[in-house]
Amino acid sequence: LSGYLAAAQFAGLESAIPQIAKEITIIYGSQTGNAQGLAKQFGKVLVGDGYHVNISSMNDVKPNNLKKIQNLLIITSTHGEGEPPDNALSFHEFLHGKRAPRLDDLHFSVLSLGDSSYEFFCQTGKEFDVRLEELGGKRLYARVDCDLDYDDPASEWIAGVRLSLKENDSEYAVHTAAATAEVIDVAYSRTSPYQAEVLENINLNGRGSNKETRHLELLLEGSGLTYEPGDSIGIYPKNNPVLVEQLIEELIWDPEALVTVNKDGDVLPFREALFSYYEITVLTKQLLEKIAQLSENANLRELVSSPNSAELKEYLGGRDLLDLVRDYGPWGKSAQEFVSVLRKIPARLYSIASSSLANPEEVHLTIGTVRYDAHGREREGVCSTYCADRVQLGDTLNIYIQHNENFKLPSNPNTPIIMIGPGTGVAPFRAFMQEREELGAKGKSWLFFGDRHFVTDFLYQIEWQKLLKSGVLTKMDIAFSRDTEKKVYVQHRMLEHSKELFEWLEEGAVVYICGDEKNMARDVHSALIDIIEREGGMSREEAAGYLTSMQQHKRYQRDVY
Ligand code: 2AM
Repeated sequence: LSGYLAAAQFAGLESAIPQIAKEITIIYGSQTGNAQGLAKQFGKVLVGDGYHVNISSMNDVKPNNLKKIQNLLIITSTHGEGEPPDNALSFHEFLHGKRAPRLDDLHFSVLSLGDSSYEFFCQTGKEFDVRLEELGGKRLYARVDCDLDYDDPASEWIAGVRLSLKENDSEYAVHTAAATAEVIDVAYSRTSPYQAEVLENINLNGRGSNKETRHLELLLEGSGLTYEPGDSIGIYPKNNPVLVEQLIEELIWDPEALVTVNKDGDVLPFREALFSYYEITVLTKQLLEKIAQLSENANLRELVSSPNSAELKEYLGGRDLLDLVRDYGPWGKSAQEFVSVLRKIPARLYSIASSSLANPEEVHLTIGTVRYDAHGREREGVCSTYCADRVQLGDTLNIYIQHNENFKLPSNPNTPIIMIGPGTGVAPFRAFMQEREELGAKGKSWLFFGDRHFVTDFLYQIEWQKLLKSGVLTKMDIAFSRDTEKKVYVQHRMLEHSKELFEWLEEGAVVYICGDEKNMARDVHSALIDIIEREGGMSREEAAGYLTSMQQHKRYQRDVY
């Protein structure tokens, strides 16, 4: 009972105490914090229902305890090309391996988070769902796959789970009345963003650079928002008005006519809806399938008729709504029908580049501007060009804080840290160093930074020099890839220092990687294995195991995108 009491107090429900507290375990696999946030939010709701709720990251699940769990809720995102998030990797591997136990007494349900613009949409959640059934588990409630705008489907999932739990256990008194409004609401959140004033917006790259990296400073004063190094900021961008006008030109509907944009019945003029409410720069398979119903164009129907075709995949790559509208008209139906197939514009996450101890009431960001050519047109990253080109000092940005427990400084200020962050990946390390400076932390620190050219692309160069001088930063190695004939990357610098780097690992250093996932983080990962193999005198498998064990002990953390 004491466990239950603690749980009840947690939700402020001391009065509602049933005889037995049925146990529910919620485990999450989370890379950027969304799945973790939902686990906590739904945990509170279930505590309000009178359950005893255990919440943990998948990494912290003890394989031996798995058989004891009766009700298991899995909330997980999917990463990269259909891979589990870092803190779900070992559990995912264990569950899919030969040592996984039979789970015939288990009741479970899976909520999977994903992004339908990726081919392996919600893959990790799907895999857990299939595997738990294979092992004998019974579904409490069917899996729900969520796209970026996950609030509504996630709420429907938890409602379904609660109903099913209640039906499964008729003797059990469920205190639903108490459950309704117990979720503690912070004033500003992902669904209710804060309008932060822009105090600073400069290009960090020098003249002549072919890169543009913006340093933004935003005011948080009075917002009540707090953050720690390693957290991120979500920014809701607005589309490029030029692109919106081009779309309007192609479509026959009155741009001022009102369209309903969501289930709450909110209305906006068609033009405004395209500008600030809907995503118009990314195409997904789902969007194409739905929009094909609105076009008379036989070629479009043909394109979507085999959803796994190479042709469809090719079409989705690097094209946007304007291409689609131009390629596959005429669009006979109404503006209302047209917008109803679009996705809501999602926030973009950026790693915070400041410590709030060093910058009270402010948050800083490092944003790489994305511009490239594709299919005969110049293309732009929506949020990065919004910040670079269309946001002035004094304007406000719609933001929220995304807490991320998977990328945190060690609690012991004496623990050594190794930070690997080329390009904008350096952002959180600026925050780490500011924080350690403020705290007077004594732990050693080593930064690996890289970019294209020393002269124009050495982001925050003067700050690193000061930190090195004051000793807050112990070591820094740099790799400029386009100053020499042969490219030099951060992992080459790491390999050059492999002996010392391994010594740091053996002393208990925490390793952080931030930045590009597909190429950089993979190559750095394998360089780490090389180093451990070579310097630790291990086989490749042992070296990989060493790194996995570091990951499980939160000594290998990644914030990659
Ligand atoms: P490049 O653009 O010259 O290829 C930040 O973007 C830095 O990361 C750049 O110097 C970029 O080099 C480099 N980079 C690109 N691919 C990388 C990889 N696979 N591993 C490490 N760094 C990489």
